[in-house]
Amino acid sequence: MPESSRATTTHRRLLLLCFLSSSALCFVLSEPVEAEEEIVSRSHFPDGFLFGTTTSAYQIEGAYLDDGKGLSNWDVFCHVPGNIKENGNGDTADNHYNLFLEDIELMHSLGVTAYRLSISWTRILPRGRYGEVNPMGIMFYNRILDHLVLKGIEPFVTIHHHDIPQELADRYGGWLSPLMQEDFVHFARICFESFGHKVKHWATINEANLFVDMAYIRGWYPPSHCSPPFGKCSAGNSDVEPLIALHNMILAHGKAVKIYRQEFQGKQGGSIGIVLHAMWYEPLRANNELDQQAVTRGLAFGVGWLLDPLVYGDYPSEMRLFLGDALPRFTVDEMDYLKGSIDYIGINHYLTLYAKDCLHSSCAPGGSDHAIRGYVYTTGDRDGVPIGQPTGNARFFVVPGGLKNIVNYMKQRYNNMPMYVTENGYAPPPGEEVQLNQILHDVKRIDYHKSYLAAVASSIRDGADVRGYFAWSLMDNFEWIDGYTVRYGLYYVDRTTLKRIPKISALWYRDFLANSSGNGLDLTQYHGRLEQDLRVAGLEDL
Ligand code: FCB
Repeated sequence: MPESSRATTTHRRLLLLCFLSSSALCFVLSEPVEAEEEIVSRSHFPDGFLFGTTTSAYQIEGAYLDDGKGLSNWDVFCHVPGNIKENGNGDTADNHYNLFLEDIELMHSLGVTAYRLSISWTRILPRGRYGEVNPMGIMFYNRILDHLVLKGIEPFVTIHHHDIPQELADRYGGWLSPLMQEDFVHFARICFESFGHKVKHWATINEANLFVDMAYIRGWYPPSHCSPPFGKCSAGNSDVEPLIALHNMILAHGKAVKIYRQEFQGKQGGSIGIVLHAMWYEPLRANNELDQQAVTRGLAFGVGWLLDPLVYGDYPSEMRLFLGDALPRFTVDEMDYLKGSIDYIGINHYLTLYAKDCLHSSCAPGGSDHAIRGYVYTTGDRDGVPIGQPTGNARFFVVPGGLKNIVNYMKQRYNNMPMYVTENGYAPPPGEEVQLNQILHDVKRIDYHKSYLAAVASSIRDGADVRGYFAWSLMDNFEWIDGYTVRYGLYYVDRTTLKRIPKISALWYRDFLANSSGNGLDLTQYHGRLEQDLRVAGLEDL
């Protein structure tokens, strides 16, 4: 692998110091190091490294009641006026249900070697365990998988990405009930049986740690549970419910993996892991020991909360220390099957924030002085200066070094098990994309992917076992509570015609994957090609 050049700017190298075997006794120290220059090419990655794009079912499929699909919690949630920006919903989304062949063709033209998708629970099981399997749903995903394989694109399949059958939400409040574990296992088993011979990479659940925050601490996602000072909801307890919901999701994961390993993995030969929301923190007060400890705690409460049980069989000791009996306990039997229950870690990375200690220091109101937050206050700015370029999400900033740091942290904490960057992507801040030509000439997105890919290449050079990178997202789509107002796609999707139109980032990714660009990027070349593409598609007047 060739050495890439280095620039003179500095960022911080992560040092994880652990004493004894307890993660409570780990301190994250950072020291300034040279940052890698944003020069990256495909040849900086090992052979077989997966380069992909990623989406999720609810965000792109549409066809929300077609061919026997049942209602999901997101279908219902989006139909309540006011829940989603501009009252958007996934009823039609990108109509991928009907346009999937075209979308696979787009990916093929980009030259990706992998595609990460998720399965709509209610397309397979319209009523969860309380109804029949929908054969049309099985057929739909089989057709997708067949066409991907035909085009030489490796499917990377997430079983559950936020959308659950409304039936299960109604019956037992979704993930708050341990009964969800059996529902998930039932769903996962059907997926292994129906698709397992075509899928070599399974992820059980997407970002369970972010999901419980959004659904049970902040109350922004269904079932909209929260309590003050985190938010005003009609039900919920932000200090306790997220712990219960995540506990159920962890056990559901463990049980599904047990079944996969016992009954399917041998003959199907796939690997199975989980995808987490992997944030990075820097101390708010530079060189302040308390804020260094806040970084360590924040990572344990963010990353360790989900991954420690799956690798070591139990929650991080600092969580037990601060949360006491509010943190559920695993039985000996559960610890046994949870321990070692991932073959790889899926890293969704979007954010680096500053962390400030709230155990010994005073913090702004809003919940950071609560145990559920690990007594850590997080913010994107220090003295009014943002930690990186702002984006379309108020908490996401462009800090490529954060990806390198979180990868190195995982490498240390989880013995360098295989990792995939299962999501990483950029949406511009509101107001920067008013005209269509601003949307299509997305230079900042190109810079973003280049700099984050450079960070991954650099981690690999340092010995991290990272095996793939998936750009979020193939195309603009339904961005949860932001509806269609925030765009992450390499392709623009016209909301009236649903036509997919390449942005210059798509042209860049295509060249990057063909190993013919990335450095000394001549943007005029892309502008010209884009115009030509639009002319060919008869869209020149857009
Ligand atoms: C992640 C989600 C994904 C998408 C991106 C922008 O947290 O997994 O569905 O919304 O954020």
